[in-house]
Amino acid sequence: MATENIHPIFDRLLSREERENRLQQRAKVLWLTGLSGSGKSTIAQGLEQRLFAEGYFPQVLDGDNIRTGINNNLGFSLEDRQENIRRIAEVAKLYLDSGVIVLCSFISPTRAIRKQAEEIIGKEDFLEIFIDTPLEVCEARDVKGLYAKARRGEIKGFTGIDSPYEAPERAFLTVPTRDMTVEAAVAQVYTALSPVISLPQ
Ligand code: ADX
Repeated sequence: MATENIHPIFDRLLSREERENRLQQRAKVLWLTGLSGSGKSTIAQGLEQRLFAEGYFPQVLDGDNIRTGINNNLGFSLEDRQENIRRIAEVAKLYLDSGVIVLCSFISPTRAIRKQAEEIIGKEDFLEIFIDTPLEVCEARDVKGLYAKARRGEIKGFTGIDSPYEAPERAFLTVPTRDMTVEAAVAQVYTALSPVISLPQ
């Protein structure tokens, strides 16, 4: 790709630190990964509310929303999922550079896909959170009715059924939701996160 005629102007823009100081927070990207129906989006929404109430400035990026907008030309082959996550990681990085705490809620099913996101965002700023809900629990809940469709063969390549999900090996945090309320899950993430996003007093 030809980039020789592109001249980024980053040195003339406000720095991320100036923006973070204005917002009184350290920017990070929280990357929530897990099966469909694991509770990622619900936890991300709860966390967004909690962070905002505590004076932080968060933003949720969510699978179903992004896939009806910027990524509405992508499907669910592993190749399309990789491209889905690549674009989302680039968007998350823009928010990060604006000093925002970004809550990304995407299945992001393979280690390679999440590694790509980490490389785009930067190791220091990428916090992987595994929403660890077993397949049988997600399938029993089946909030969107998609597991039933996948079992009937009406959806091909559904994550956990006939498309892979690889659990993270060294996540920043694992949230075992099976016996947890949403409130408890949000509280667990908030407690782990707050020292990382707080400015020194
Ligand atoms: S990802 O794999 O590319 O990270 P993403 O998080 O954006 O997926 O979208 C997942 C959502 O798309 C699911 O929660 C579900 O509502 C919907 N969906 C539709 N088809 C599939 C499929 N084949 N596999 C998984 N999710 C699907």
